[in-house]
Amino acid sequence: MAAGLIWTLLLMGLLASLAGTQTQQLTLHPTVGRLFVHTLDHATFLRLPEQVAVPPSVRITYHAHLQGHPDLPRWLRYSQRSPRQPGFLYGTASPEDRGRQVIEVVAYNRESFETTQQRLVLLIEISEGPPLPYQAEFLVQSHDVEEVLPSAPATLFLTALGGLWEPGELQLLNITSALDRGGRVPLPIEGRKEGVYIKVGSASPFSTCLKMVAFPDSRARCAQGQPPLLSCYDTLAPHFRVAWCNVTLVDKSVPEPAGEMPTPGDGILEHDPFFCPPTEATGRDFLTDALVTLLVPLLVALLLTLLLAYIMCCRREGRLKRDLASSDIQMVHHGTIRENTEELRQMAASREVPRPLSTLPMFNVRTGERLPPRVDSAQVPLILDQH
Ligand SMILES: *[C@@H]1O[C@H](CO)[C@@H](O)[C@H](O)[C@H]1NC(C)=O
Ligand SMILES: *[C@@H]1O[C@H](CO)[C@@H](O)[C@H](O)[C@H]1NC(C)=O
Repeated sequence: MAAGLIWTLLLMGLLASLAGTQTQQLTLHPTVGRLFVHTLDHATFLRLPEQVAVPPSVRITYHAHLQGHPDLPRWLRYSQRSPRQPGFLYGTASPEDRGRQVIEVVAYNRESFETTQQRLVLLIEISEGPPLPYQAEFLVQSHDVEEVLPSAPATLFLTALGGLWEPGELQLLNITSALDRGGRVPLPIEGRKEGVYIKVGSASPFSTCLKMVAFPDSRARCAQGQPPLLSCYDTLAPHFRVAWCNVTLVDKSVPEPAGEMPTPGDGILEHDPFFCPPTEATGRDFLTDALVTLLVPLLVALLLTLLLAYIMCCRREGRLKRDLASSDIQMVHHGTIRENTEELRQMAASREVPRPLSTLPMFNVRTGERLPPRVDSAQVPLILDQH
């Protein structure tokens, strides 16, 4: 009775504590084809009272996944440089990703081992802005991906790039770490960064200066390992070091001429004077070939077997010939050895054997006369008791 009460109380306590860790929920509106960045800030997950700054020593790591799945959707990436720095969810949704996606984020506090959950509801919508047919991708060598994801450096990049573009609004389309595109982790030397690819789109055309980067003479200089000559002032320097050889410009303002649609035919070739079909193949009978292939080796094998059997069984000359060819003395010698061997074998099999023949009274081979055993005086023990 008392145990039941304790269990009930425990269960109620557990339920109450579960209700206490209510999951925060946040709704976000990413746009198809535009960069989406969400910062996982330590302050959001610490539940500190208002006006209390996050202590700089707090270490938090995050794990984000699509609800009901072990990992993030394909378009979304997660990155965090170190547990003391914020995490980032970023990526560019494609038209197939339209709709509602729920991302669950779990934050692990590495000091107190507390976990906090947050649910991000992403309502991915089609962009309502003007199309951005002019797109350019830059490889920025002076930054890591986490350094351009916050809005301040991203805005700075766009503002600086505005000087190289016809006036108009620039939008970030995609950001990728160079490591995800085959780049290498740099040596830990001051000032070396992994590099990041930034893709920018605009409704206004490229400037002549930017277009010149893609010209053949610039490419030729790049092939020789020299930077291309810029005809204008590099407004991105000194904040951003751009690899000018690796700039990609895409102009989608001119629609590609639609290729002629192939017309499906009936699948039969028209008459072609050069087409020479192979002549009709005549039927062939392979029975004789098969029989010859199988029977000839079989016959040869049979003949050899018979020959061997005849030699082994029918041409034995036998014991009689052997006995006749051997001299008598050899036969006697051989016979005694055999008898003695047999006798020894019997003795080995059991201890209760009759006395060995060799200890029996000797008999004269020539006369056949048996003699009583002669006592060899050398064999008589000196002390008779031991006999
Ligand atoms: C963004 O860049 C990554 C890496 O280059 C690429 O895999 C992805 O398809 C891009 N996203 C879009 C929508 O183009
Ligand atoms: C940058 O461009 C140069 C010259 O076109 C090329 O050799 C190099 O592989 C490119 N680097 C990257 C990281 O794409």
